[in-house]
Amino acid sequence: MRYLTVALTKGRLARQTLDLFERCGIDTAGAMDKDTRKLIFTNEELGLRFFLAKGPDVPTYVYYGAADIGIVGRDTIIEENKKLYEVLDLGFGRCRMCVCGPASAKKYLDSGEMIRVATKYPAITKDYFLNKKHQTVEIIKLNGSIELAPIVGLSEVIVDIVETGSTLKANGLEVLDEVIPLSARMVVNQVSMKMENERISEIITRLRNELQKQNA
Ligand code: PRP
Repeated sequence: MRYLTVALTKGRLARQTLDLFERCGIDTAGAMDKDTRKLIFTNEELGLRFFLAKGPDVPTYVYYGAADIGIVGRDTIIEENKKLYEVLDLGFGRCRMCVCGPASAKKYLDSGEMIRVATKYPAITKDYFLNKKHQTVEIIKLNGSIELAPIVGLSEVIVDIVETGSTLKANGLEVLDEVIPLSARMVVNQVSMKMENERISEIITRLRNELQKQNA
């Protein structure tokens, strides 16, 4: 039997996903062990392999078929824009992509002025300002701690993920507009979906049933 390979987003998303698999009766072969430095975990009995990757790399592994299945945030799926099947909303990792800044920056959004926007998500930001707001902006790509940008004068606003809102609050910023709602999704390689349809569909069904049970 060929291994079915599942790429997980390192961190909290991976832990929640592995927990869901375990609740479905799918043994995740020690991938839950926090202290391990191993990157790949094999369940020989089911012919399943799990590995942990950085979020933006998950769609890449799945697109090239190095993983058949990926679990990743909707933000990353949209930003990476690879041809994949998105088959299931896992419901966790719920948050929002928002335009944020100091309250005083709201006027820049209403006026349609040329402003600078710092973000880890340039494609989503470009689509939002160009196609939805019809506002020309300069996008500055950062790799983290995006909230710093308007504080130190790098940009007027940011486009970033807001979950509890506590990072914004702690830095005197607020949500100025919502871009898209987000949560963890399951994606599948398009060839794998045809070649391994039965096994992949079985996994989707088991996960979906468990999620429905949990929400009932
Ligand atoms: C994310 C995001 C925000 C924060 C939002 O950052 O970029 O900074 O979490 O969460 P909150 O609304 O609950 O405060 P992350 O911790 O992933 O680190 P990063 O700044 O390096 O992207």
